[in-house]
Amino acid sequence: MSGHILSIDQGTTSTRSLIFSPAHQVIASAQQEFAQHYPADGWVEHDVEDIWRDTLATARGAMAKAGMGADDIAAIGITNQRETVVLWDRATGAPLHRAIVWQDRRTAELCAQLHAAGHEPLVQERTGLLLDPYFSATKLAWLLDTIPGARERAEKGELAFGTIDTFLLWRLTEGREHKTDITNASRTLLFDIRKQRWCPDLLALFRIPAAVLPQVCQSADDFGQTHLLGGAIPIRGIAGDQQAALVGQSCLAPGQAKITYGTGGFMLMNTGETLTRSRSRLLTTVAYRIDGVTHYAMEGSLFVAGAAIKWLRDGLGIIVEARQTQEMAARLPDNGGVYMVPAFVGLGAPHWCTEARGMLTGMTFDSGAAHIARAALESVAFQTADLVAAMQADGAGALAALRVDGGMAANDWFCQFLADILDIVVERPANLETTALGAAMLAGHAGGAWPDALSGESRGEVVRFHSQMEASARQKLQAGWQAAIRRATAR
Ligand code: G3P
Repeated sequence: MSGHILSIDQGTTSTRSLIFSPAHQVIASAQQEFAQHYPADGWVEHDVEDIWRDTLATARGAMAKAGMGADDIAAIGITNQRETVVLWDRATGAPLHRAIVWQDRRTAELCAQLHAAGHEPLVQERTGLLLDPYFSATKLAWLLDTIPGARERAEKGELAFGTIDTFLLWRLTEGREHKTDITNASRTLLFDIRKQRWCPDLLALFRIPAAVLPQVCQSADDFGQTHLLGGAIPIRGIAGDQQAALVGQSCLAPGQAKITYGTGGFMLMNTGETLTRSRSRLLTTVAYRIDGVTHYAMEGSLFVAGAAIKWLRDGLGIIVEARQTQEMAARLPDNGGVYMVPAFVGLGAPHWCTEARGMLTGMTFDSGAAHIARAALESVAFQTADLVAAMQADGAGALAALRVDGGMAANDWFCQFLADILDIVVERPANLETTALGAAMLAGHAGGAWPDALSGESRGEVVRFHSQMEASARQKLQAGWQAAIRRATAR
């Protein structure tokens, strides 16, 4: 039993471990949801001890289910929710605070001040990102300013900063490795994506001491070994979850694009070795660095996708499980003029409107739970269409197809509506575990266990959804959505 890869996928709401066979098949997995903490309006935190406990438990659980020991695992790949900030004590490994999650808006005011002072062009030029609380730098500054003594200790080199990948690597290697990969570094607002190193100007702007930073590696690289899973296992791949999904979807050539529907929705288009600057407020980010070659991507980030469906379940209580939305939406002849703008934590690309809040419009006494469920599904498709339009405005050209994955991609009604609204082919792989697969492919490549991992097609069988909607119907729906978005973003 050799050539198997353990992939750890630490996401926003759950931690999963999957074991992939050399044929890229999932042979065992374990998953654990964990608590979300909302200590104030717009604040979102994770207890990193929960994350660590679940990482070990799911990794051990998946290995036990597969009947495997450390000798059977060729390498580990890690993929993770990006931007989320952890600060810990180098001597004890103890976190100084709960992690501040990518969705957290507590630094909106600081971002607005930096924006008003004219700093966004520098930030955008160096990082490909925007001045938004979404990214790590202002969250890290908040921790250093808020925790008594933290800034002084950070300057003395006593503290370590990391995104979740870095924190897990530190724990897995029992403090031996303080590293990240280039995709995660590229989401911090501190990394120069052209020079591919931490940027001293940005460290000064955000007042971050260089002593807290991890070493930046390639996405397929030597990240050390763990001895906590029953023997020595090398860790050979790390990538942010959206970049890992790009790899797992085999979007390895320029012009190929995927969108992953998890908590949020993240569309990435591979632009090859070309660093394309957006004029439509999309992000430029690092897709991966492998064998000394860096590929870039254009990214459109939606803050809410699957989270809207979770809200139907946990907030409104109109569904018990996500898959019910498919039947509810299909039951209606049309949306009845009901639109949802799921701006629960503001709006991401291309609007970047921190103040926007969620909205339901067009309700009448005829509107029922099914309309709300359908509006939630449609809102994710409309937001995706806005991203595709922005990419095209940036000169991306017509997409041949959009590859979809993540939880919502399992919903046939949603995939068909997406194809109808986009008027392009939507492709869904049989294996929807593309994020975990991507991390496994990186680890398999770097460790030599999967020599062909990155050449050829990894998706297996693909289901294709073709547009069936009349252009006039599409235009009418689009007009309704645009009117709703205008109201949600009106200041
Ligand atoms: O940028 C945030 C993203 O990495 C989170 O992904 O799948 O946990 O919603 P997900």
